[in-house]
Parts: sequence; structure tokens; C-alpha cells
Amino acid sequence: MGFLNKHQILERSPTLLLIATFGVVSIGGMVEIAPLFYLENTIEEVEGMRPYSPLELTGRDIYIREGCYTCHSQMIRPMRDEVERYGHYSLAAESMYDHPFQWGSKRTGPDVARVGGRYSDAWHVDHLKDPQSVVPESIMPKYAFLAETRITGEYVQDLLETHRMVGVPYTDEMIENAQMDFKVQADPDSDWEEMLERYPGAVVSNFDSASGITEMDALVAYLQMLGTLVDFSTFVPDQSR
Ligand code: HEC
Repeated sequence: MGFLNKHQILERSPTLLLIATFGVVSIGGMVEIAPLFYLENTIEEVEGMRPYSPLELTGRDIYIREGCYTCHSQMIRPMRDEVERYGHYSLAAESMYDHPFQWGSKRTGPDVARVGGRYSDAWHVDHLKDPQSVVPESIMPKYAFLAETRITGEYVQDLLETHRMVGVPYTDEMIENAQMDFKVQADPDSDWEEMLERYPGAVVSNFDSASGITEMDALVAYLQMLGTLVDFSTFVPDQSR
């Protein structure tokens, strides 16, 4: 046999090889993982992003409860056909306040990451009540009952606090005013200016054009803000990392 070089020594002893492999993998792991503990944030901050308003957050809960995500994704991939159909590809920052995120992978219906502002409130209400009335070939189920379910936002303060516990930067002021902000967003005749200062870009409207606030109002408020917060006419991706 003769000459054994150093590597042959390693290769011929399973125990030694195992220990050496473990050593090498650990170094690689440390280099990759350790910095994550010292970074404040792994998501590039993007101008315009803010936490959901109380009404939008309520609508988002309804979106999750009704399983809309089983047919709709909220993640536009950076591929030409997607960008041409849906608009600018989704940024990580756009779902940084989502707990849980709604990216999804199943598209029975279209991606809704940028559906905000694409249709009128009335279109959404008609469509959610009876999708086939506006898109005859649609296979989307009817959600007419949402327009009959009144909500008062009595738990919305707790909802915001819960999201703050998992890292959404709701301020004390936002939490204090949660129920009021919830109400004024669905009532254009009220004093909604302060709500809009707290949640810039929120759509103020009587979404379902009926009196009182219903689950329909909340869901449409949520849909109308999706993908509208970042101004892509001025957005420049950070190329430094
Ligand atoms: C069984 C699958 C399915 C479910 C569940 C579903 N949808 Fe849809 N949705 C579709 C399909 C298919 C379309 C495309 C045809 C149409 O516009 O109705 C669609 C279209 C839409 C559109 C229009 C998107 C666009 O860009 O034109 C919106 C908004 C929407 N759905 C919202 C919702 C919401 C909110 C829910 C939950 C309350 C929901 N969908 C549940 C299948 C579904």
C-alpha cells in the first residue's frame, strides 16, 4: 500500500471523518446564522409601509377566516408575465406586518397582492355578494352574508395589542384610538383626519354603502389597500445587499 496522505487518513476512519465533517459544517453554519442574531431586521425598510388600520386588520382576519388564501396568493413573482399582469413584483417589506403572511402558492383565482384601487368599492361588494353577477364564468363562492354581519370593533384594541406582541409597531396612541379609528374609516362624514395621520393612505369610505359597519366593509377596506402603500413610481431597490 505504501504512502498514506493526510486525506486518506481521514477517509479511512469513519469516526474521524464524521468528526471532521461536523466541524466543517458547524463553521459554515455559524458564519451563516450568527449574523442573524445581531441584525435588527432582515427586511429592507421601504418607504410607505405602515401597520394595518384597525378596520383593515379586521378585514384581513375575515379574509383568513373565509379561506380566501386557498384560492388567492398575495405574492407577485419577479417574472415578466406576472409583472405585466399584476404590477411590480412583491417586496418582502410589503408583508412585514403580516402575521401570518398570505403569500400562498395556490392560484385558483388571480393574485390579489395589488388588487387595491383596481376596482371600485361597489364592484367588490357586488363581486363578493355574487361573483357570477360581474364575472359570469367565475367559480368563486358567494359571500353575501358578510354584508349582513354587523361588527362594532369591540375587540379591535385587543387585536392590535396581539399584533404588537408579535412585533408590529403599533403605538400606544394607535391602540388607544383603535375602536374610534375602526369606526371613522367606514364613515366619510365623520372626523377621520387623525385616523389618516396614523394610517396614511387608508381608504375612507362607506364601502358597502349601507348604514352601520359590516364584515363586508372591513373586508373591502382590506382589499382596497392591498399593494397600494409603496409608491412604485419612485421606488428604487437597495442594491447594496
Ligand atoms: C374557490 C376559489 C375561490 C375562493 C375561495 C375565493 N375566490 Fe376570489 N376569485 C376566484 C376566481 C376563480 C376569481 C376570478 C374570477 C372572478 O373575478 O370572479 C376570483 C376573483 C377575485 C377577485 C378579483 C381579482 C382580480 O384581480 O380581478 C377578488 C378581489 C377576490 N376574488 C377576492 C376574494 C376574497 C376576498 C375571497 C374570500 C372572501 C375570495 N376571493 C375567495 C376564486 C376564489
